[in-house]
Amino acid sequence: MSRQPAEEQRLAESWDINAAAWTQSVREGLIRSRQLVTDRAITEAVLRRRPTRVLDAGCGEGWLARKLTSQGIAVTGFDGSESLIADAQQHGGGPFFTLSYDDFCAQAHVLGEPFDVVVFNFALLSEELSPILRAASQTLAPGGCILIQTLHPVEASQGQGYENGWREEHFSGMGEGYKAAMPWFFRTLSSWLDELRRAGLDCVALEEPLHPETGRPASLILTAVPRPQI
Ligand SMILES: C[S@@+](CC[C@H](N)C(=O)[O-])C[C@H]1O[C@@H](n2cnc3c(N)ncnc32)[C@H](O)[C@@H]1O
Repeated sequence: MSRQPAEEQRLAESWDINAAAWTQSVREGLIRSRQLVTDRAITEAVLRRRPTRVLDAGCGEGWLARKLTSQGIAVTGFDGSESLIADAQQHGGGPFFTLSYDDFCAQAHVLGEPFDVVVFNFALLSEELSPILRAASQTLAPGGCILIQTLHPVEASQGQGYENGWREEHFSGMGEGYKAAMPWFFRTLSSWLDELRRAGLDCVALEEPLHPETGRPASLILTAVPRPQI
């Protein structure tokens, strides 16, 4: 990943600035859609693959790694935020490493491979994703897959144009103590599929878990596998 626009830098910095607030939001269940739908949706999507080893990429404070570890799965987590990794390490369920996606792209193998699943749970927020996805695919075991849960593009674009571009998250309704807005790159569904294709991956499943209160999609879950070499 060569370019580092100001948004990318602010995005990375925001996770250290907001680490305490984020950890509290996740651990106290303050994000309603996570409680009602998306935590279970991604956990079940991983478990359906019956993995032995999982890489939790952009693991944050580590809730998913802990959940999967409690099911007997060997999970490694990494995240660019040193503060969030410190929070993750305090609760166990790791090992957990501080590693930016840039560094992951340069040295994906340092995390110890191969993995049956590499999971990105709401953790792909940058403009350029194909290098990250390509690095992730290099750590996969034969038959392994990449699972991505993200905001549903149609829902996330409500009230704004349906076109790729930088947006700002202010964490309203997610708890207290957030000190910085987070830039994140909104992308359309076709753009998600383009990023996978550019990374040499095929999208083999697409799920849209519904929010039980609104009947609207709470997220989008993509399953991708390395494109067979002909
Ligand atoms: C919305 S949080 C999700 C955290 C966790 N996956 C979860 O489900 O709670 C997004 C995470 O992506 C990480 N992240 C964003 N950009 C990153 C980058 N360039 N390198 C490494 N981690 C990054 C952040 O530090 C943050 O922990």
